[in-house]
Amino acid sequence: MELSVFPNPYMASVHVANSITDVIQKNNAINRQTILGLSTGNTPKPVYDELIRLNKAGTSFRNVVSFNLDEYYPMSGSSGKSYHSYMHNHFFSHVDIPSQNIHIPDGSIAEHEINEYCKSYEQKITDFGGIDIQILGIGRTGHVGFNEPGSGIDSITRLVYLEDITRQDAKIHFNGSPVPEKAITMGIKTILEAKKIYLLAWGEKKAEIIAKSFLQQVSSDCPVSFLQGNKKLELVLDEPAAAMIQNEIQVNRI
Ligand code: GLP
Repeated sequence: MELSVFPNPYMASVHVANSITDVIQKNNAINRQTILGLSTGNTPKPVYDELIRLNKAGTSFRNVVSFNLDEYYPMSGSSGKSYHSYMHNHFFSHVDIPSQNIHIPDGSIAEHEINEYCKSYEQKITDFGGIDIQILGIGRTGHVGFNEPGSGIDSITRLVYLEDITRQDAKIHFNGSPVPEKAITMGIKTILEAKKIYLLAWGEKKAEIIAKSFLQQVSSDCPVSFLQGNKKLELVLDEPAAAMIQNEIQVNRI
C-alpha cells in the first residue's frame, strides 16, 4: 500500500482527481469505459469539485460508468437526504456522464426484493468488468461504505444495520428527522475487488481511526483494517489525519 500525505485536503484532492482523469483520458483514447466506485460524505467533496473543473476543462465523462457504495434504507431517491440527491447535487449534474451510466443502490426497493436486488447490483459491476477506481472515506466506527464492525472480508452488497455512532454522525444531514436504521451497502469483498482504491481522510478527527485501521491487528471489529497492506490501496491523508500513523509507515510526503 502507498501512504501519501498532503498539506491540505485541496492538494490531496487535486492529486486524486488528476489520477482519475489520467485513467479516463487513456481509456477514452481507446474507446474503453472507465468504471468508478464512488462514495459520499464530506470527505470526497473536494475531489468532485476538482473532477467537475477537469470535466469543464475538456476531459469527457461520456465513457464513465459509476457505482455508488451505499444508500440509506428505506430512502426515496428524490429525498434531499438521500445519497442519490447528494451525488446529483455535488457531482453528476455538473458533468457529462450519461444518466444511464449512473448506479446508486435503490433505497426504495421492497424489503422482500432486496436480496435479489443486491445480487443484481453485484452482477452489474461484474458485467462491466469490475471497478477500475474506488474512492472511499472512513467512518468513526472504522466503516467503509456502510460496512460496520462485524462485516466480514467476504461480504458483498447487502442490507445492513447502522451503528448508533454512525446514525449520530449522520444527524446533521437529517434536520431533526430520524436517521434510518438500515442501509444498502457494497461489501468489503466488492470493494477489495476494485483495481485501484483511494481511501481519503482529512482532519484530526480521523487520526485515531486511521491509526486503529492501519496499525492494529486486522479484524472485522474495524472493517477498514481489511485494506491493510493492500497493494492496490493508496491512503491519501492530510497532515492532521496522518498525525498518528506517519512515524510508523513509510510516507510519500507531497
Ligand atoms: C458515511 C458514508 C461513508 C463515509 C462516512 C464518512 O457513513 N456511508 O461512505 O465515508 O460517512 O463521512 P465523512 O466523509 O463526512 O466524514
